[in-house]
Amino acid sequence: MTITTCTLATSPACLSVPGPPAMPIVGPKGNVFRFISDPVGHTSHLFKTYGPIVALAAGGGTNFYSPERNCPGTVFICGPALIRQVTTQHEIYYKYPLTATLYRKRETAPRTEPLKHVGVGLFGVNSDEHRQQRRLLMPTFHKKRIEAYRDDMVTITQQELDQWQDGEQRNICKAMQMLTMRVVTKTLFGEDIEQNGSEAVQTLQDALILLASPLTTLLPFDLPGLPYHHFLDLVGRFDGQMRAILARKRATGANGRDMLSMLIRAHDEESGATLSEDELLGHIGVFFAAGHETSANALTWTLFLLAQHPQVAADLLDELQSVLYGEAPTVEQLQHLPLLDRVVKESMRVLPPSPLQWRVTSQMTEIGGYALPSGTELIISTYQTHHMPEIYPQPKVFTPARWEAISPSVFEYNPFSAGPRMCIGASFAIMEIKIVLALLLQRYRLQCLPRPLVNRFGLMIITPKGGLPMIVQKQDRQFAHGVGGVRGNVREMVELPI
Ligand code: HEM
Repeated sequence: MTITTCTLATSPACLSVPGPPAMPIVGPKGNVFRFISDPVGHTSHLFKTYGPIVALAAGGGTNFYSPERNCPGTVFICGPALIRQVTTQHEIYYKYPLTATLYRKRETAPRTEPLKHVGVGLFGVNSDEHRQQRRLLMPTFHKKRIEAYRDDMVTITQQELDQWQDGEQRNICKAMQMLTMRVVTKTLFGEDIEQNGSEAVQTLQDALILLASPLTTLLPFDLPGLPYHHFLDLVGRFDGQMRAILARKRATGANGRDMLSMLIRAHDEESGATLSEDELLGHIGVFFAAGHETSANALTWTLFLLAQHPQVAADLLDELQSVLYGEAPTVEQLQHLPLLDRVVKESMRVLPPSPLQWRVTSQMTEIGGYALPSGTELIISTYQTHHMPEIYPQPKVFTPARWEAISPSVFEYNPFSAGPRMCIGASFAIMEIKIVLALLLQRYRLQCLPRPLVNRFGLMIITPKGGLPMIVQKQDRQFAHGVGGVRGNVREMVELPI
């Protein structure tokens, strides 16, 4: 294969992958700004114009994620062949826990100290260290352990649904966040932290909003009034909330079977290593965040799609009632709900909660015939891959029935990514999402408000901007109510009724 290198092949900042020119006056920073402002929209536009491998700015010079000071630039890829190459080359494609600006700031002042572990966990380790820490965590996610979480998932879901009132308006995004946060803290930390947990959910939400704001990255100065200053306040608060979880667990003796107790006691069988305080805090924060935000958004988007697809909603309720008769599913019954399975798969195909996966090259490499210098940031688009018409005909149409006939590879369908970094909580999430949907849909019908405005938002996770208010109705099978009239850029991602 011919590998295309820059004519200035010796320059560390040189990138030969095609892409749009740097923006006039502001230069490559302008391209970064455009990307951060709408990651899914901007990458879709770039793929359409340049193909499945594209630079954020031709010649490079952009840097958002890579901690390398001389980051050569940003490259986006989509499609199964390229995704296979990146996700399976664990020693070449590294992952980092924060954006470049924040990563570099983490040891510069007392207020940036928490950045050393907030959001780090598995996201912040590579190579052998990653393998070792994943080995430590794996027992928590074995099939039998996950099945044992079923009862807690059912109890918490029922408690949350008991609070819903017929006819009320409820922000479904927030409701799903609260529910999934309670599930993850109860099952993995052994503690159902309703009150403290909801404060931590809010802190995390506010921090994620600021993380997705271009100004936090472009003006990283700790001065009152600037978003970066507020971001550090929130990170400090979140750190305190995660420390409190750890302290409470230590105070109980940490001798339970939950993941956190196991982590506190854990040592690697091969090396004898135990986890440091920073590592423990890193894992707690990542499991708290990754363990509820993604599932909450998968549920929110699925409930939105069902509210706009009345026939699918009716068929799904028929299936649930004919198998469950209003009860919660057992682990065994979950295997016998094929339409529920297809609805969840199709929802995460068309609106994947984690649309982009982030990597940095640890050494010089090659992809798609282009040389990638060490330190290049490479971003995989799961979203674009899920919208390739050659894999999924009419990709924007929400069609759960398509899953009767297809069985895509993990590189063609990857809401949980692929390779050694594939989501460790995938089976946990699928079981939780199915249990919540089965219980919720048998009790309630969620209806969209008239002419709702639904815009995508977020950098790491896509969520409806400003939440998703819906009307709660006792299940009355009036699925045609509230269908159509949706406004906003969600319509660019999925076809919806007029
Ligand atoms: C629908 C729900 C979920 C989705 C869509 C999702 C998606 C993902 C994706 C795409 C990755 C890999 C990112 C990459 O390749 O860089 C990932 C990693 C991870 N997820 Fe999930 N996730 C979900 C639920 C969960 C749950 C419930 C947990 C924990 C209970 C969890 C914990 C993690 C962790 C710890 C990692 C890091 C794995 C590693 O780097 O080795 N996720 N998730």
